[in-house]
Amino acid sequence: MAQIRLQNLSKRFDGTVPALQDVCLSVEAGELLVVVGPSGSGKTTLLRIIAGLETPDSGRLYFDEKDMTDVDPKQRNVAMVFQEGNLYPHLFVRDNMAFPLKARRLPASQISKTVRKAAQMLHIEDLLDRRPHTLSAGQRGRVALGRAMVRQPAVFLLDEPLANLDVELRHRMRTEIRSLQRSLGATMVYVTHDQNEAMSLADRICLLRDGAVQQTGSPMEMYRHPANRFVAGFFGYPSMNFIPGRIREEGGEALFICPLGAIGLPALLAETAKKNVDCDIVLGIRPEHIAVVKKSSPQDFCGNIRSLEMLGRETLVTVETTEEIRMTFLSDPDIFLSIDQSVQLHIDADKMLLFEACSEGRRLTPESMK
Ligand SMILES: Nc1ncnc2c1ncn2[C@@H]1O[C@H](COP(=O)(O)OP(=O)(O)OP(=O)(O)O)[C@@H](O)[C@H]1O
Ligand SMILES: [Mg+2]
Repeated sequence: MAQIRLQNLSKRFDGTVPALQDVCLSVEAGELLVVVGPSGSGKTTLLRIIAGLETPDSGRLYFDEKDMTDVDPKQRNVAMVFQEGNLYPHLFVRDNMAFPLKARRLPASQISKTVRKAAQMLHIEDLLDRRPHTLSAGQRGRVALGRAMVRQPAVFLLDEPLANLDVELRHRMRTEIRSLQRSLGATMVYVTHDQNEAMSLADRICLLRDGAVQQTGSPMEMYRHPANRFVAGFFGYPSMNFIPGRIREEGGEALFICPLGAIGLPALLAETAKKNVDCDIVLGIRPEHIAVVKKSSPQDFCGNIRSLEMLGRETLVTVETTEEIRMTFLSDPDIFLSIDQSVQLHIDADKMLLFEACSEGRRLTPESMK
């Protein structure tokens, strides 16, 4: 299985915005890397460049230190699975799956055994004698995945392969893909725009925005240590709350002055904050780190409940403060709350993050301070 390395890759289609901008990324041999990002952020273009279906304007692509940038797609030993499956319409499912093995002239008995095993794994054994046009989009996607699996390629490239499946099947297939990838020790690049799927599947995640890498890291790194406001807002449902304000220093203490009042910053953030006194800053806090409290302390603030959404295990609450700041938090469904009720809210100060207010919105960390 190959290691993949993308070095300063850029691509712009004629007359459009850049599809990829100076992308540097490596995928270790046997690693499952998930590329995630909003629609149009360059995910498919990235996969197509690795597969050789698209040529970069600049930059290089390596498999195990071998320069593959100009190598013919057929010589790359890469299997790419598209959302819709790109199957041969005139062939039965069985023959679609067997196609790459027949091309290699393997013995018929070995081919049928391999196809059967793959079909079992993907729960499509009962579809083997049907033609692609008689299948649902989700079923076609699984056949395409099976055809890629039997090839045992050096690199698997999957472009939203589960987009057409219902929630339960999607979850089951996700687990199957993960265990399949582990047992084959395959190098896999998996594209999705679903942050949940990215978090649950990946060894590491690469988040793209407008063709530029925002951050690459383990799911936990992306969630707990986001590089900027975009990353912080992308992962986690409901999204992180952002509150604009300024830093002030008073008697050696660092305070975040915002429409909610003066919030004292914990020691770890205070050092960082003191280097940014009077700068425009945005405070980030996740909904799970805000809670309703009975007794108010100076740090707490008041909000009016504007909406309540039952999520089952918890209730998603939107509040509006007197300063018209809207925030969401998660509450225990056993706590009785109603629309227009006024509640006291407490922010877990140890979980707060600070970001630059500019559009790039870098997170302020002790390391990022000059
Ligand atoms: N063949 C093409 N010709 C012109 N522009 C293109 C072409 N392919 C992609 N683009 C543009 O490049 C950018 C990236 O597209 P890409 O398909 O890689 O995005 P994506 O992240 O896969 O989006 P989605 O989640 O919608 O599939 C977009 O702005 C898109 O319009
Ligand atoms: Mg795409």
